[in-house]
Amino acid sequence: MTEKLTKKSLLTTTLIFTLLLLSSASPPPPTVCIIGSGIGGSSVAHFLRRYSNSNHYDAEIGQIRIFERHGIVGGRMATISVAGETFEAGASILHPKNYHALEFTKLLNLTIKKPPSSMSGLSLGIWDGHKFVFKTFTSNSEIPIVQRFVSLANSVKMFIRYGLSLFRMANFVERTVDRFLKYYNAFESRPVFESVEEMLKWAGLCNLTTRTLGEELVEAGLSPLLIEELVTVITRINYGQSVSISGLAGAVSLAGAGGSLWSIEGGNWQMAAGLINESNVVLHLHQEIESLSYVAGLYELNSSKGESYRCEVAVIATPLDELNIHFTPSISIPERKLQHTFTTFVRGCLNPKYFGFNMVSVIPELVGTTESSDVPFSSISVLRRHNEKDMTYKIFSRQLMSEELLDQMFSVRNETIKINWGAYPHYHAPEVFAAVILDSKNLYYVNAFENAASTIETSAVAAENVARLILSRFSGQQGSGISDLKSFGDGKYQMHSDL
Ligand SMILES: Cc1cc2nc3c(=O)[nH]c(=O)nc-3n(C[C@H](O)[C@H](O)[C@H](O)COP(=O)(O)OP(=O)(O)OC[C@H]3O[C@@H](n4cnc5c(N)ncnc54)[C@H](O)[C@@H]3O)c2cc1C
Ligand SMILES: *[C@@H]1O[C@H](CO)[C@@H](O)[C@H](O)[C@H]1NC(C)=O
Ligand SMILES: *[C@@H]1O[C@H](CO)[C@@H](O)[C@H](O)[C@H]1NC(C)=O
Ligand SMILES: *[C@@H]1O[C@H](CO)[C@@H](O)[C@H](O)[C@H]1NC(C)=O
Ligand SMILES: *[C@@H]1O[C@H](CO)[C@@H](O)[C@H](O)[C@H]1NC(C)=O
Ligand SMILES: *[C@@H]1O[C@H](CO)[C@@H](O)[C@H](O)[C@H]1NC(C)=O
Repeated sequence: MTEKLTKKSLLTTTLIFTLLLLSSASPPPPTVCIIGSGIGGSSVAHFLRRYSNSNHYDAEIGQIRIFERHGIVGGRMATISVAGETFEAGASILHPKNYHALEFTKLLNLTIKKPPSSMSGLSLGIWDGHKFVFKTFTSNSEIPIVQRFVSLANSVKMFIRYGLSLFRMANFVERTVDRFLKYYNAFESRPVFESVEEMLKWAGLCNLTTRTLGEELVEAGLSPLLIEELVTVITRINYGQSVSISGLAGAVSLAGAGGSLWSIEGGNWQMAAGLINESNVVLHLHQEIESLSYVAGLYELNSSKGESYRCEVAVIATPLDELNIHFTPSISIPERKLQHTFTTFVRGCLNPKYFGFNMVSVIPELVGTTESSDVPFSSISVLRRHNEKDMTYKIFSRQLMSEELLDQMFSVRNETIKINWGAYPHYHAPEVFAAVILDSKNLYYVNAFENAASTIETSAVAAENVARLILSRFSGQQGSGISDLKSFGDGKYQMHSDL
């Protein structure tokens, strides 16, 4: 009898103990599937690893998979080889205040380089299809004092044409950049955002997406001449569009025409490659995701190779606008058109007659253009001067550069490479934004932020927010969850931790 009782109680104890063990054992950490290996997808992986199990988030992250349809990572950060030399084919320049990109560069031990194509250093001409409406002095002198004199003379020349408006433009850009810097605040003073609108409002940037750049700049007191010429030249170079883009995309575009711009020696794509390499990611190259279905609490991603992967969390880190991913259940995002930018690289020599000149040397190194149906390209710039009559040029245009047109523009062409980019959104005002959480569960869309602006850095900023959103939603599921709440005093964060 006693023996029986003891046995029974022992069994019960064991059972209770096992049950207790089971209930206190953490569920396995969530696995994450990311579609896209550009700066957005690679940054999500990086920030998930960096922030998980930190003093901010007690959430653990399991396996992270990144799917990339191409054979190389980086997406719109890519290099191209022209006559044996390597150039940026997509995103080429970074701003001195692109702090995530600077941090990645340091973390990954990459080398910073000052690109020769930064606008400030080049002679500039503004072409309206018939003539240069503005042209700086050109000097091929290697002597620093001569260069400095020419650059000073050019500043004077620019001031004579555009006057005080130039300072108002600089102020507008600086104000906007300063607001953007709030996204680098410490966690304690920076909430996690569930929508792009909320994120922009918090930084005081939302209003800039409701009006066009043209409208904003008129209100800021810029002269119509500056807007029609220099500002238009810049928006056409950076976004392939006119000043009817939103004020925010416009400010970002103008910031990308300032001084101290930089890039990464050997190619900006190495940022994505390095982040993926150091984030313990399973990378699936040549795997195009064709369908994404929510099945029994998991996202099932099927690739064109017929393979199938399941994850608790799915992140879309590519614009969905021109893709054919089949979602079950279906998702709904506002319609958005991508601006296509054709990037044409030419090794050879421009024909001065095309611009009404007799000598190649008087053609500005950077030819920008105004909004006119008479101009079949957005810009042409010299990437490398091999000698007086042998250069590597980069052309941006909205349409494919036809062979006939190129034959008119160039007297010599030894190599021509054409790329068609689904480059960035076709911006307008007011902008509408897709949801960041596409299904109210764990399906995230990094590129919803691209309607605000499209750059390497803004992708990283949007990716960081998505990583925090994921971690805050999984925090507290493992362990106590209390340590998580304790580390945040402002209450805003707590709101998100129990979603
Ligand atoms: C010509 C050009 C010039 C630019 N200049 C600059 C600049 O000077 N400075 C700057 O900061 N930004 C610039 N940008 C913008 C910048 O390139 C982008 O904002 C940024 O690179 C976007 O990164 P992302 O990771 O969000 O998207 P992407 O880089 O586009 O990455 C998405 C990835 O997803 C992959 N993919 C898509 N669908 C699938 C699928 N179904 N399955 C698997 N993989 C898939 C794609 O192949 C791609 O690799 C420029 C862009 C272009 C096109
Ligand atoms: C960083 O790169 C430099 C030059 O490429 C190299 O000398 C150095 O050892 C590298 N440092 C690390 C930590 O990898
Ligand atoms: C944005 O616009 C609204 C309405 O016009 C205004 O009340 C608000 O102060 C503006 N916000 C900023 C940051 O400029
Ligand atoms: C990947 O990371 C390892 C260390 O984590 C480093 O030794 C290696 O050089 C990196 N490879 C690339 C291609 O960055
Ligand atoms: C994805 O693949 C799995 C396994 O092959 C299959 O059962 C499922 O039906 C596929 N889903 C879709 C949407 O094709
Ligand atoms: C380019 O082509 C021209 C004419 O075909 C040739 O004379 C010249 O040497 C070539 N230049 C280079 C750099 O290959």
